[in-house]
Amino acid sequence: MHDQPPPACPHTTPAPPKAPAPDLFTWEFATDPYPAYAWLREHAPVHRTELPSGVEAWLVTRYADAREALADQRLSKNPAHHDEPAHAKGRTGIPGERKAELMTHLLNIDPPDHTRLRRLVSKAFTPRRVAAFAPRVQELTDQLIDSFLDKHGAERGEADLIHDFAFPLPIFAICDLLGVPREDQDDFRDWAGMMIRHGGGPRGGVARSVKKMRGYLAELIHRKRADPGDDLISGLIRASDHGEHLTENEAAAMAFILLFAGFETTVNLIGNGTFALLTHPEQRDRLQRSLAAGESALLETGVEELLRFDGPVELATWRFATEPLRIGGQDISAGDPVLVVLAAADRDPARFAEPDLLDLSRRDNQHLGYGHGIHYCLGAPLARLEAQTALATLLRRLPDLQLGVKPGELRWRGGLIMRGLRTLPVRFTPPAAGGRSGS
Ligand code: HEM
Repeated sequence: MHDQPPPACPHTTPAPPKAPAPDLFTWEFATDPYPAYAWLREHAPVHRTELPSGVEAWLVTRYADAREALADQRLSKNPAHHDEPAHAKGRTGIPGERKAELMTHLLNIDPPDHTRLRRLVSKAFTPRRVAAFAPRVQELTDQLIDSFLDKHGAERGEADLIHDFAFPLPIFAICDLLGVPREDQDDFRDWAGMMIRHGGGPRGGVARSVKKMRGYLAELIHRKRADPGDDLISGLIRASDHGEHLTENEAAAMAFILLFAGFETTVNLIGNGTFALLTHPEQRDRLQRSLAAGESALLETGVEELLRFDGPVELATWRFATEPLRIGGQDISAGDPVLVVLAAADRDPARFAEPDLLDLSRRDNQHLGYGHGIHYCLGAPLARLEAQTALATLLRRLPDLQLGVKPGELRWRGGLIMRGLRTLPVRFTPPAAGGRSGS
């Protein structure tokens, strides 16, 4: 979907501001960052700012600049290129990656190492493997809905869609795909819960969870080497390219990055996507009518539009200038960190007609929600499968799903890279017993 070049960007030089620069990284900004991004695109499209951590970085907000920067090999993913390398370690926001053995993952390395690892993992994590996983994703989705109906929803018709649904679905799905035995998956749910609540901060609980997960994966890889199955971990061990294989350490780091790149992102795509549908009833009605007619086209374009409109990855992960360069007419010095603001680029009026409008049938939609260039999301087919299954099943099984609170009462997580809700309380008419688990 990203192979067509975008039309030329009609932006001109930045306009002098009529209003003062917005405050970034406040509570209001976390709730609705889009007005601030509109201001930046207009007046300071490549903007140097101090982040809450005290580190200074450039924010790139226009679509054309963003797309170019994502593909620019002079912007390295290796934190050693930061002019303050001591601060830069672990900047993807993935908990525990400060540990040396987890640092060498796809989002922290450049070619040729990146090319080699990506080629090997792509041999195991194929679109075919994901397509074959579709029935299991449907089954998991139905089981989670059954389970929150059994727990409390059946009488009260209430649930927290983040806690009860969007959070467990991706963790169980990726565990299944990797080959983590079912009886161990609740441990993963607990470890992942600890990490999502506390982010990459240096809390004891997070460090302990990372250590346990890392230890578990190392042991699992060891066992699978002796007794392989047809799961993804066995596939990673088996994958070879011109006689080259992943080492056990590389396979463990890869399993870990797949878990973390694919977990919180998908939680938030389901969360943000459901929220957008519930606050745009005419779009949600269209989607429900189209699903009832047995069509899938609107669901497919709709999930892409939800990614563009309010996707989970607000900023792409860290990049560092390896030499002096210019982005959007702005000089960037060697060693400077650059953050591409995907959420701002995907609302750029120079690229998208009526960008603040949610239109599930939008056709010309080369959004950057999965990134662009060599680090383009490896898990996009799985993310699409999970989001499409989750949203379609929710709307089919709970057709009158409504927000349980006013939109303004919802709290957004304040992380730098990820955009997502803390909770998503919903109400619905509990289905009759016969309405359970139907697909
Ligand atoms: C809605 C869900 C998802 C979104 C929005 C998303 C978004 C992204 C983005 C924007 C990038 C590029 C980051 C950058 O260039 O700085 C990326 C990379 C990546 N994603 Fe996803 N992702 C999602 C789900 C997944 C899933 C389910 C998996 C795997 C199970 C996954 C695995 C990866 C990996 C391994 C990379 C690094 C690729 C590389 O560096 O070559 N993602 N993702």
